[in-house]
Amino acid sequence: SERASGETVSREVDQRETSERASGETARSDAEVILATKARRPEDASTWWAQGGIAISRDDPKQFKQDIIDASAGTADPEAADVLVENANEAVRDVLVETLSVPFDTADGSDDAVAERGGEDFDFGKEAAHDADRILHVDASTGSYVLERFLAFVDDHPDIRVLDDTAALDLITHEGEVRGAYLESSGEVRPVFAGATVLATGGVGDLYPDSTNPAGSTGDGIAMAALAGADVADMEFVQFHPTAHVDESGTLLISEAVRGEGATLRNAYGERFMPAYDEDAELAPRDVVARAVKNEREVSGEVFLDVSDIDFEERFPDLVEQCERRGIDWETGIPVRPAQHFLCGGVAVDEWGRTSLDGLYAVGECAHTGVHGANRLASTSLLEGLVWGLRAGADATGRDPAPMDVPDLDDRDPALPDSFAREKFTRLRRVMGEYVGIERDPDELERALGVLRRLKGEVDAYVRTRTSRSLYELRNASVVALLIARAAAANDESVGTHNLVSDDGTSTDDEATVETP
Ligand code: SIN
Repeated sequence: SERASGETVSREVDQRETSERASGETARSDAEVILATKARRPEDASTWWAQGGIAISRDDPKQFKQDIIDASAGTADPEAADVLVENANEAVRDVLVETLSVPFDTADGSDDAVAERGGEDFDFGKEAAHDADRILHVDASTGSYVLERFLAFVDDHPDIRVLDDTAALDLITHEGEVRGAYLESSGEVRPVFAGATVLATGGVGDLYPDSTNPAGSTGDGIAMAALAGADVADMEFVQFHPTAHVDESGTLLISEAVRGEGATLRNAYGERFMPAYDEDAELAPRDVVARAVKNEREVSGEVFLDVSDIDFEERFPDLVEQCERRGIDWETGIPVRPAQHFLCGGVAVDEWGRTSLDGLYAVGECAHTGVHGANRLASTSLLEGLVWGLRAGADATGRDPAPMDVPDLDDRDPALPDSFAREKFTRLRRVMGEYVGIERDPDELERALGVLRRLKGEVDAYVRTRTSRSLYELRNASVVALLIARAAAANDESVGTHNLVSDDGTSTDDEATVETP
């Protein structure tokens, strides 16, 4: 067994009953990159769902860094924030503007490529806790434009082989070094060896009842890394977005950019409540607004995003279309509530995306760079993925694969009753939503730990003899849920997204105890 985040997590690969050994596949040349994604469509990846945009430093990296630190309640790592803000402008210009030609909105609405026009006529948006207008965006659908162009780029790249509908199940390790991963496609599992393995598996939305993440966000990379013995950090800091609309067709994120334009939050009595919670009102840090929205929903029944004072149709046509498709009468206010949105913690990495295991890198939401501390500043997630993606890529090149004999997982029984996974996921989500959500009671965290330990034990019993994608997703979700609950139980200080409530249910945080009229 190995230790991760202060507790033992068993590592299954070596304990499996296997009759065969497999020698596997190796990247065909030093330059070759194999990009394996379990996604079947671009919409299955978190990047596609990023709405508000991507923040850059413009001419004031110092203030950008300060905003990151303030939004995190002083917990962001200042050195990691420096890496982010100092590389932001160049990374966005080189990759998104010049290489991928992402059509960021311009101040005058012109379609001409901004790069050809000197770059300063972008329409810089504002979002909560940003001191300046510095968010590049395409309507409120920025991520989809970025991802579509990125996928077209990698499809055309001679050295990149994209394997879609292909899930990574486990890392291949040898004496603390990661040598590749087991990949599953159409039920077949094979080992693939690589000089460097980069995890970019996104978030953990599937662990919660309501999330803005795409389905399939089961924390796979974090679980695989932790099971292989990599360090994880800050797992208790789960960010909830304050303004999601939830109905029978799922969760629709209403971008923070809408509040940045001037939309206000009102309770069921029509009262604007945010000024009573924070001097920055709707533009307070996300954790503050999320707690206020939760509180107002409990007190008054409902919370609405009032867009009547902004030109919602003109500025957010994609959101208008999505609201209308769901039958939301946005002119009278959009019903909103908090939903799980982002994991600030993850696999611990350095400024080059290197994990504590040789040959293993992590970037994007599954990684913990330290930039976000206890609460992430809006529109820094695409940027973090971009900046650390470039750095990890630079560091990872030139490492030779070292193939070896490994257990063959392909001869195991893949069958698993669907009802098993459904039932376990339902239980896991209920526990995470009730006990490890926006507010956490120490006693309830202990209760959650008990349930999650039992659940992981039940899942592990299957993983010892069976191999299927859905079983491994469930295993990953149960590992990550335990990591989150353990970290939350171990942290007795309310800070940022980790908000402890006392025995009588009152919050120890000032903002959430404000009496409402
Ligand atoms: C949003 O558009 O509100 C989400 C942006 C983010 O999570 O950074």
